[in-house]
Parts: sequence; structure tokens; C-alpha cells
Amino acid sequence: MNLLGAVPVWVLLVGAWAQGLPSVSHLPCDSPEAEAAALVAQDYLNAQHTHGYKYALNQIEEIKIITTPGGGEAYLMDLELLETTCHVLDPTPVANCTVRSKYLTSVEADCDVVLSNVGGVLSVTSFKCKTEESTEDICLGCPMLLLLNDTAGLALVSASLASFNNKTGNESLFVLEEVGRMTSKVVSPKLLYQAEYIITETNCTIENNNSCVPLPTPQRGFCQAQGGSFGNTVDCMIFVRKTVNGTNDTVPAPPPGVHVHKGNLLVKPGLRHHKLTSFHDPDSSGILSAESHEVVPVFPNVTDVPATTNALNATDSLAVQPTLLVPLCPGKVIHF
Ligand SMILES: *[C@@H]1O[C@H](CO)[C@@H](O)[C@H](O)[C@H]1NC(C)=O
Ligand SMILES: *[C@@H]1O[C@H](CO)[C@@H](O)[C@H](O)[C@H]1NC(C)=O
Ligand SMILES: *[C@@H]1O[C@H](CO)[C@@H](O)[C@H](O)[C@H]1NC(C)=O
Ligand SMILES: *[C@@H]1O[C@H](CO)[C@@H](O)[C@H](O)[C@H]1NC(C)=O
Ligand SMILES: *[C@@H]1O[C@H](CO)[C@@H](O)[C@H](O)[C@H]1NC(C)=O
Ligand SMILES: *[C@@H]1O[C@H](CO)[C@@H](O)[C@H](O)[C@H]1NC(C)=O
Ligand SMILES: *[C@@H]1O[C@H](CO)[C@@H](O)[C@H](O)[C@H]1NC(C)=O
Ligand SMILES: *[C@@H]1O[C@H](CO)[C@@H](O)[C@H](O)[C@H]1NC(C)=O
Ligand SMILES: *[C@@H]1O[C@H](CO)[C@@H](O)[C@H](O)[C@H]1NC(C)=O
Ligand SMILES: *[C@@H]1O[C@H](CO)[C@@H](O)[C@H](O)[C@H]1NC(C)=O
Repeated sequence: MNLLGAVPVWVLLVGAWAQGLPSVSHLPCDSPEAEAAALVAQDYLNAQHTHGYKYALNQIEEIKIITTPGGGEAYLMDLELLETTCHVLDPTPVANCTVRSKYLTSVEADCDVVLSNVGGVLSVTSFKCKTEESTEDICLGCPMLLLLNDTAGLALVSASLASFNNKTGNESLFVLEEVGRMTSKVVSPKLLYQAEYIITETNCTIENNNSCVPLPTPQRGFCQAQGGSFGNTVDCMIFVRKTVNGTNDTVPAPPPGVHVHKGNLLVKPGLRHHKLTSFHDPDSSGILSAESHEVVPVFPNVTDVPATTNALNATDSLAVQPTLLVPLCPGKVIHF
């Protein structure tokens, strides 16, 4: 079904041709321009996200380009992203992160993103995301996501963290920073729990453990534990720090309000996964309305700059070949 090859890259779909009004054009979702914009959006969304896991682009569902007569340009994109197994504090680039497979209960985010194109530099001006667990491919015997306040799951977290600290001996004592996800599955006759969580280095050791507080630039790690009341195994990976000119990199910065959790965790009730930040519109551009998931076609407040595209050049080919209005979107599915 490769109709795309026959279609000019820039196809003008809707024109507000009354002079002085912005025009709307569409790009094929698989064009290099659309993909470059989607990656800018992906990285921006991950950078806004201080809890849970990084998300990777799965599909560009739609892209519209709004151009003012003065040449200002904004991209309106509808993107689908999937949760990876890399925590947001993990320095691994998202391109190297594994997307969580469906049977492990994948989480997907649908995002409307507005980017401005100023002199060829794309930057996100607002976005709106909806994050959901995939309910497809749930099987008997597959791990089921637990609420992040699940008592048995949290018992595994604290028991396995104690084992980790006990194993590391005289080194710093680590405390829990965040639970990423917890699951249970039936491994007859028992329930096997699994947990993933983030740990932070404190000023304590296992023997000297009064009033522990996280170090100013703590080491952090990602732990994967499994087990239950019958015992557990745990494997923690301490994130490698980059060293810049002999001083330790403080990035990723500690998220605001890191607490030392000694027991109960403060999580939003009723959640089984960390949602991607849902709404962000610092300029109140009104392009994305908070009430609806629809993109409201209001022209954004973008700076008028010399046009960097030749969008208007496609007008003629469209006029003579209206049948070229074939679906150029959604684009290819990258993962599943
Ligand atoms: C990411 O993957 C690329 C290509 O496979 C590899 O060269 C690079 O070292 C990887 N980076 C990390 C941080 O794993
Ligand atoms: C700590 O490790 C020692 C030696 O490996 C072991 O005997 C002890 O039971 C462990 N304690 C905990 C709380 O895991
Ligand atoms: C741990 O500390 C004790 C005393 O506090 C010391 O005897 C021992 O050698 C240390 N072990 C390691 C591995 O540093
Ligand atoms: C850790 O730091 C806190 C706050 O500065 C202090 O009260 C506590 O005694 C320190 N703990 C240890 C084991 O040094
Ligand atoms: C704290 O230190 C005391 C005394 O050294 C020790 O008995 C206890 O197991 C330690 N607790 C933890 C959580 O490491
Ligand atoms: C590292 O140090 C050199 C010389 O002191 C300096 O020119 C350079 O900008 C520094 N790089 C960073 C990333 O701080
Ligand atoms: C950098 O981090 C390492 C490991 O935590 C620590 O041993 C070292 O002292 C730190 N260096 C600086 C300059 O903070
Ligand atoms: C977890 O949160 C849910 C939803 O708020 C609540 O119904 C449940 O009682 C909580 N469970 C625990 C163990 O706190
Ligand atoms: C565009 O934004 C700037 C600053 O955010 C504001 O001063 C200006 O009035 C806005 N223009 C329009 C047409 O909304
Ligand atoms: C059409 O494209 C050509 C070259 O790509 C450019 O010189 C011309 O200005 C464009 N015309 C419009 C109306 O953008």
C-alpha cells in the first residue's frame, strides 16, 4: 500500500485563503520533517517527566502545520508513545531503552503537542497527554499490575531493599525514593511479586543509621526485586554518573521534594503506573483546551519569521490532482 511515494511531500489540505488568515497544511506522518519534530516532542515530554519511566515514540498519528502570512509556523502533532523500562532518572538515552512488551502490561500515552518553528529550530510550546494501561493481551499467568500502594508489594520493596543494604556492607545506606511498578503473578501454589524501584544514597551506613538524609548529590539506583513472604532476590543497578571536568555531574537533578521513605509511601491513590505529565501550556496559547482532547484550531502566538518551508508550493499539484488526498497519516508503527 505504498501510495506515499506518488505524493508530493507538501500537500496543502485546508487553506484559509482569505488574505491575512493562517493556512493549515499537512505533512506525511512518515516524512523526515515529521519524525524530527516528533523526536523533539518525545525528548521534551521525557524531560518534563520526573516520576516513573521514559516514553518512546510509537506512532505519529497526525501532523498539521499552521503558517501565518508572515511566515510564522507551528506544528500541531498527535503522537502515541509507549512506556520503556528505563526510569526517568536512568541516564540511558531513550533510543537505547526497551519498550515494555504488551504481556508485561504496557502503558501508552496519547499526546497532542504544539511546537513552534522559529528559524528552523523546533521547540515545544504546549502539550496535553493522556496515559493509559494497555488492556490488550492480558493473559492468565501474566504479571498483573498492582496499585502503587499495595501492601504486599511494598513489603517486598522494603524487605528487598534491606537485603540490598545488608549486601553492600559498609557502603552508604540507600533508602527508597520511588516505586516504579509492582506486579503479582500466580506461580502455583504461590503468588510471586515483582517490584521495580528507585533508591537514593544517604549519609548513613548500615551500622550508623540515625536520622538518615539523602546526600546533596546522591548516587541513585534502580532495583528489580522478586519474591514474597517466602524470601526475595534483588538486583540493583547504580546509575553511572558522568564526570565533567572532575566534578560530579548532578544531573539528573533530584526531583523536588524527595523524601526519605521509611515505611508508607505517598503516592496518588488508585494508580498502578506513573502518568506522563498531562497538561502543560505555559503561554496559555489556547491551542490545546484543557477540557477536550481535541486540538482546537486557534492560531498560536508564534513569532513571525521568514518562512523556512515552501508549503505553498504544493498548491498547484493539489489543485490538479485532488485524488492525492490519500491518507498520509497515521505513520508507521514503530513498536507495536
Ligand atoms: C546506545 O546504542 C548505541 C547503538 O547501539 C550505542 O553505540 C551506544 O553506546 C548506546 N548508549 C548507551 C548509553 O547505552
Ligand atoms: C545480612 O547478611 C548476613 C550475612 O550475609 C546474614 O546473616 C543476615 O541474615 C542478613 N540480614 C538481613 C536483614 O538480610
Ligand atoms: C567494615 O567496617 C568494619 C568496621 O567498621 C571494618 O572492620 C571492615 O574492614 C569494613 N569492611 C569493609 C569491606 O570495608
Ligand atoms: C545525617 O544528616 C542528618 C542531618 O544533617 C543528621 O542529623 C544525622 O545525624 C546524619 N546521620 C549520620 C549517620 O551521619
Ligand atoms: C541500624 O543500626 C543498628 C545498630 O548498628 C542495627 O542493629 C540495625 O540493623 C540497623 N538498621 C538498619 C535498617 O540497617
Ligand atoms: C573543562 O575545563 C576546561 C579548562 O579548564 C574548560 O575550558 C572547559 O570549558 C570545561 N568544560 C566543561 C564542560 O566545564
Ligand atoms: C564523585 O562521586 C564519587 C562517587 O560517589 C565520589 O567518590 C567522589 O568523591 C565525587 N567527587 C566529587 C568531586 O564530588
Ligand atoms: C490504595 O489506594 C486505593 C485507592 O485509593 C484504596 O482503595 C486502597 O485502600 C489503598 N490500599 C492501601 C493498602 O492503602
Ligand atoms: C503573544 O505573546 C506575547 C507574550 O507572550 C504577548 O505580549 C502578545 O500580546 C501575544 N500576542 C497575541 C496576538 O496574543
Ligand atoms: C517554491 O519553491 C522555490 C524553490 O524551492 C522557491 O524559490 C519559491 O520561493 C517557492 N515559492 C513559494 C510560494 O513558497
